[in-house]
Amino acid sequence: MDKIRIRGGNRLNGTIQISGAKNAALPLMIVSLLTPETLTLSNVPRLADVRQLQRILQNHGVDIMVAGKRPGQNGMMGDVKQLSAKTIADTLAPYELVSKMRASFWVLGPLLARCGEAKVSLPGGCAIGTRPVDMHLHAMEKLGAEIEIEAGYVIAKAKHGLKGAHIKFDKVSVGATHAALMASVLAQGDTIIENAASEPEIGDVAECLVKMGAQIEGIHTSTLRIRGVTSLHGAEHRVIPDRIEAGTYAMCAGMTGGDVLLKDANAGHLAAVIDVLRQAGVSAEPTNEGLKIYRNGQALTPVKLDTQPYPGFPTDCQAQLMALMTKANGTSVIRETIFENRFMHVQELARLGADITLHGDTAEVHGVKKLTGAPVMATDLRASVSLVIAALAAEGETMINRVYHLDRGFETLEDKLSACGADIARIAGN
Ligand code: UD1
Repeated sequence: MDKIRIRGGNRLNGTIQISGAKNAALPLMIVSLLTPETLTLSNVPRLADVRQLQRILQNHGVDIMVAGKRPGQNGMMGDVKQLSAKTIADTLAPYELVSKMRASFWVLGPLLARCGEAKVSLPGGCAIGTRPVDMHLHAMEKLGAEIEIEAGYVIAKAKHGLKGAHIKFDKVSVGATHAALMASVLAQGDTIIENAASEPEIGDVAECLVKMGAQIEGIHTSTLRIRGVTSLHGAEHRVIPDRIEAGTYAMCAGMTGGDVLLKDANAGHLAAVIDVLRQAGVSAEPTNEGLKIYRNGQALTPVKLDTQPYPGFPTDCQAQLMALMTKANGTSVIRETIFENRFMHVQELARLGADITLHGDTAEVHGVKKLTGAPVMATDLRASVSLVIAALAAEGETMINRVYHLDRGFETLEDKLSACGADIARIAGN
């Protein structure tokens, strides 16, 4: 297994290209199941999760072609992928594939909508809480599917097709909103999804579906109105920039000091993160090219916040913010309201000298003067990158083990950071 070695203390200066959003690319790839025509996606990040989903879609019969490199194109520009689900060869999503990545469970909706049946293993993915799928199943039942759970599999059937429905979610779920949206575009009649998640990645999927012929109103709001159509056609769509990756590199720059342009970052998607960075004493300025982040000499100020569904502060940036606050001038209070077990990074940050106390869903982060490098372990995707942030500011050497978690969600992380002056290297495993 590869490791990442970081020697802390260097300021970051330069430009970091923000990749396409993992959390948009994955559902967009799944959307290809809804049409026999070709869906062409550009700016698809080169990530382990994308490759894993590719295997799952290929198992359903989706042909996937990746365009070769074009003249003048650098390695940071993402892939162009053509996905063609001419015929669905298999409506089974087996445990061996689905257990590796939670989002692959989302094939359930499109398979049901297109084929009237699906058998999908209950999911796996990052170990951040129990993460049930009851809301997904509720949405499919509302749309007329019959659901049974047998031996770890969801078996769903809609012999006469799905029917439009009024779906009102009790809480905000990104995945359940994707599922309901992807299934209802091909249902007979009208669907209303109330209390829908309004994360930009859902808007991106909805816009792609509209290009394919879907009828959707209320995109980017918490109420989606869908008029079912009988078929969808091919389309071309560019994946939006990754706001979580951008937020992460913003914290890296805030942590080390220096001046970094996050090229192509969408500041509009990052309002809550920018707000918190500014409270913390980190400057964030939207520019024509992206988002400029700098901190020159100013001390880090502690912050108090709760994670919230969009447009609130994202849970996917909580661990990174906590790493930043380990060096603030005082005590920060960070409450995690989305996932109940998303503090695995706390123990590892403590190995670097962080002073954090946990009280249920709330972490008190007491800023320290100095972090010191140590061997640490990556536990989940966002937790791992919080260790990178802390290590960039720690004295001496940090060795991060189990970096496959990072590779699931961050494209060429060590190249992007070292190009800005970080002393970071990947040590290949045996
Ligand atoms: C997605 C993101 C993930 C992010 C999360 C919250 C992708 C690929 N993943 O995950 O990076 O951290 O949104 O922004 O886009 N819940 C239920 N029942 C359900 C579904 C969810 O109770 O059927 C709960 C979850 O346990 C959690 C909350 O709802 O407490 C939100 O989860 P959800 O938004 O569904 O997360 P994911 O879609 O899995």
